[in-house]
Amino acid sequence: MAQLKNDTFLRALLKEPTPYTPIWMMRQAGRYLPEYRATREQAGSFLDLCKNTELATEVTIQPLERFDLDAAILFSDILTIPDAMGLGLYFAEGEGPKFERPLQTEDAINHLHVPDLNKLKYVTDAVSSIRKTLDGRVPLIGFSGSPFTLACYMIEGGSSKDFRTIKTMLYSRPDLLHKILTINAQAVIEYLNAQIQAGAQAVQIFDTWGGALSAQAFEEFSLSYMQQIIDGLIREYDGRKIPAILFTKGGGLWLEKMAQTGADALGLDWSCDIGQAKARVGNQVALQGNLDPHVLFAQPHTIEQEVSKILAAFGQGSGHVFNLGHGINQFTPPEHAKALVDSVHRLSKKYHQ
Ligand code: CP3
Repeated sequence: MAQLKNDTFLRALLKEPTPYTPIWMMRQAGRYLPEYRATREQAGSFLDLCKNTELATEVTIQPLERFDLDAAILFSDILTIPDAMGLGLYFAEGEGPKFERPLQTEDAINHLHVPDLNKLKYVTDAVSSIRKTLDGRVPLIGFSGSPFTLACYMIEGGSSKDFRTIKTMLYSRPDLLHKILTINAQAVIEYLNAQIQAGAQAVQIFDTWGGALSAQAFEEFSLSYMQQIIDGLIREYDGRKIPAILFTKGGGLWLEKMAQTGADALGLDWSCDIGQAKARVGNQVALQGNLDPHVLFAQPHTIEQEVSKILAAFGQGSGHVFNLGHGINQFTPPEHAKALVDSVHRLSKKYHQ
């Protein structure tokens, strides 16, 4: 494998010194880029694109050609695992992800199994291909959904505003939900370790819906399963540490508990002050975040001001990976993403002397 030419992202996750604050953007490969829309059309659909090694590699690299990003993220989706479990993932135009066979009966839940990793070979093939094409340019991030976030889609059958079905199960049949979460956690461990063995140099767990839970339910139904994953992950590969990032959207109140899992870094959504978060957990973990993605609809001078506020709040020293607080909006002007990346690099140098 080629030597890394830019390891600032990995160094920041491990709180080692860097010359500037590295940055990547959640959902950096996506519909806000016209070249992404063209490649997706060529592939046929979003899922065809995920399953086409060459085109998935191409769209992963696209944002790096436009912006001076410090990491690449595998182009795939968190819902590949439930799809491989046989739930039948599809995307209805304008409605987001859906499952043909959601888990809505006890019988369906009793038949759920950890999927055969061969069914996810297209993902590990994409990882190897992307890593080869990157040729050491920047590190490659692998990812998965959290067991709870996956369960939200598996049980609701798609996106949900109120999580009524999963919360009904959580409070009336917690045993059934625990059964699903135990299987999901095992599947995520195997899936992420396969990504690491195929070439992922850091991994992120997306707990997009953990923040919909009460504090106690979060610990019991989301955090404890993320803990199992952290305990089961390969932490060093090919002589290098593989940092693990936990991102619970809406999890700002629970950072201390999340930091105790042994994760290397926590992702922050835009609702927390990163300086306060650092004061609470900064001796234990690195922090990633946390610009409101909608700042990118403002003009470049405003983007720059908002970037300076976050950099100043984090302050001097390493342990910060700049990112958005959630995925980039599909209507974002690409030039504004460029303004973000360039201003983070330019304005952060003074905090690394
Ligand atoms: O960050 C990246 O660039 C890597 C690719 C990536 C995608 N999905 C591609 C994608 C990643 C890391 C994800 C994670 C993901 N997928 C999450 C967790 C992160 C988050 O946003 O909270 C979730 C909840 C999903 C499930 C999912 N997949 C949803 C809700 C949707 C619809 C979203 C929308 O904006 O319509 C998807 C589809 C999806 N995944 C797209 C992309 C680029 C858009 C599909 C398209 O091209 O039409």
